[in-house]
Amino acid sequence: MKKRIAVLASGSGSNLQAILEAIDRGEIRDAEVVLVVSDRKEAYALERARRRNIPTKYLRAKDYASREEFDRAAVLCLEEAQAELVVLAGYMRLITSLFLSTFQQRVLNIHPSLLPAFPGGHGVADALAYGVKVSGCTVHFVDEGMDTGPILLQEAVSVNDEDTVESLHERIRQLEHQLYPKAINLWVQGKIKLMGRRCVIND
Ligand code: GAR
Repeated sequence: MKKRIAVLASGSGSNLQAILEAIDRGEIRDAEVVLVVSDRKEAYALERARRRNIPTKYLRAKDYASREEFDRAAVLCLEEAQAELVVLAGYMRLITSLFLSTFQQRVLNIHPSLLPAFPGGHGVADALAYGVKVSGCTVHFVDEGMDTGPILLQEAVSVNDEDTVESLHERIRQLEHQLYPKAINLWVQGKIKLMGRRCVIND
């Protein structure tokens, strides 16, 4: 049986695209993306999914009285799609504990910095402004905090003197497109053991 993955995205969806192509190439084995959810109607991630006939759902924050109500609706969609793993790929909302209690240790996120440095919505800009010489990306399990969950994989990239937020983010994105499929495949193959905060990989 293929593992059923749902992807939540707010933006261009280049990570979604990388995941889909990794599944096509067999680099993520025995898995399929069964649903793409977005909180932005114009998110290009939705268009990428539609082009592949993957079911999509747009949830408008204004339609819900609270973050919990919004997440209740999201969880319903994910349950209807029988999603087993939830992958946040450029999803710019904080997940509530209501969401996490349904999908314990089954929500992954990718972040464009070497966590715990530079969490939040401006990881690349914050790292550049701080003046770091090395940055990168992190795949982690999601917990109630902002980018604070157990770290699964990280990859580093050098920061150049000429870098702008855009150029650095572009190089980090290229890394993300390799790292996220790798992390998802580890999860799908059952190779991750969580020991407190430490993810041990039995590859
Ligand atoms: C990615 O770089 C991802 O790490 C970042 O948004 C981008 C989405 O790109 N996520 C965050 O900053 C989360 N705090 P994409 O839409 O092209 O996949």
